[in-house]
This record gives sequence, C-alpha cells and structure tokens, in this order.
Amino acid sequence: MKPVLEARGVWKVYESGVIRVEAVRGADLAVARGEFVAVMGPSGSGKTTLLSMLGAMLTPTKGSILVEGEDISRLGPEELSRLRRRRIGFVFQAFNLFAALTAKQNVELGLRLRGRPARDTESEALRALDAVGLSERADFPPADLSGGEKQRVSIARALAGGPQFILADEPTGALDAVNGRAVMELLAERARKAGAAVVVVTHDLRVAQFMDRVVLMEDGRLTAGAHPRGAPAGGL
Ligand SMILES: Nc1ncnc2c1ncn2[C@@H]1O[C@H](COP(=O)(O)OP(=O)(O)OP(=O)(O)O)[C@@H](O)[C@H]1O
Ligand SMILES: [Mg+2]
Repeated sequence: MKPVLEARGVWKVYESGVIRVEAVRGADLAVARGEFVAVMGPSGSGKTTLLSMLGAMLTPTKGSILVEGEDISRLGPEELSRLRRRRIGFVFQAFNLFAALTAKQNVELGLRLRGRPARDTESEALRALDAVGLSERADFPPADLSGGEKQRVSIARALAGGPQFILADEPTGALDAVNGRAVMELLAERARKAGAAVVVVTHDLRVAQFMDRVVLMEDGRLTAGAHPRGAPAGGL
C-alpha cells in the first residue's frame, strides 16, 4: 500500500557548542493509511525526536519527511503550520496543556486551530473528553487533574476533529491498565475505522496486540520488528 507518511533517510543531529548528539541516524519508516505502528526502544534512543520530525515540528538535519508523497521541506511556514494544525494530532510525552485553560477549553482550542467553527467546538470537545472517560472533569484546570487525567485530556485534544495523522508519544505512560487499554482501543479504531495513519511511541508491551507493526529504535536507528502477534525481533 502507498505510504501517506514517510521518513526517508532521516537524521537529526543536535549541536550546541562542543556537544553533538546524533539523536536519529538514518531512519526509514513508511506508514500507510489505516495502519497502526508502534515504535519501541530504550530511553534516549531517539523516539521523540523521530516522532517530532514526522509531526512536522522539528526539521531533519538530513533526509526527508513525506506527507502523501510530498516532501514537506518544500512547504512554506504557512503551509507547514496548516499541516500541523489541521491534519496532525500529536500527543506530547509531557502533555503540553495550557495551565490557564480548563480541560474542555484545551480541547476546544485544538479544534479551533483545526479550523472548526466556534459554535461546534464545545460539543465536540465534550464528546472527545467523554471518549477518554473525562466528562466529569471538563471544567477542571490541568493543575487539578491527576497525571493520567492530564494525559487523557491531551489525547482528547489530539484526536478531536479527526486528524489524518496521529502521532502519540507514550500515550499510556501515566495510565493504569484499564485506561491504557481504552486509549489503545481508541487509537486502533482511528486507524481501522477512520483510516488514520497512527504512530505510537511506547514502552508498554501490553499494547503490542493492537499493532499492525512494531519497529524498534536503538541508538538512533530503526530496525523493523516482526509482526507483534508473533515474536518481535530484538528480543522484546
Ligand atoms: N534539544 C536537544 N538538544 C540536544 N540533545 C537532545 C535534544 N533533544 C534530545 N536530545 C538528545 O537526543 C537523544 C534522543 O532523545 P529523545 O528524546 O528523542 O529520546 P527518546 O527515545 O524519546 O527517550 P525517552 O524514552 O526517554 O523519552 C538523547 O540522547 C537526548 O539527550
Ligand atoms: Mg521520548
């Protein structure tokens, strides 16, 4: 199947003064519509860096990111921002919620950025929060939410409005087994039913059952794992 989101020979080198970190070293990854892919690997192996490049939030040092076959380095700042806002749902490892806004307002802001008319955002935001089991916390600011609840708000924000590409960085890291499973089911449904291309960074081996494919990242390089329902490569 034709990939809709692709990293081709992507490198990211962070340089500050004399310190140089080769965080991603020649990664290739192609994700098709409706596909649910997991990226696993040790801490510091470059997973967040790779996901940020796939999400058009970080520019590769070398190589390219293609969205529906188009190299996004050719896009101007306006088009790039539009791609990020309208078509990509990103779940940040550190949640990145606005402290001054309630849970509902955080989700509504995401919907406004996607171009949803103001009259629809409240009901859509409430639906998105309900899908992660948080209707009762809609009017709470992040400071009054538990870690797992904050994480679920950030998931609701990323999924609201039905983006084509969903990139989630450890979306179950702060969740218990029941909520973690519910979130993975939600993401799987976005891939299977809505045809979204979904990439999830995770350490959670329990999620393997939901995946079409697991790739392993080690020391900035990707190696394809086996089908998750078989025994993945790399000893995981
Ligand atoms: N802005 C930055 N400047 C310099 N080095 C960075 C920067 N961001 C990340 N790194 C380094 O790049 C490497 C990869 O970081 P990254 O956050 O991508 O890892 P990760 O696989 O997501 O780890 P974790 O599982 O702990 O979240 C690490 O060694 C990290 O210290
Ligand atoms: Mg990370």
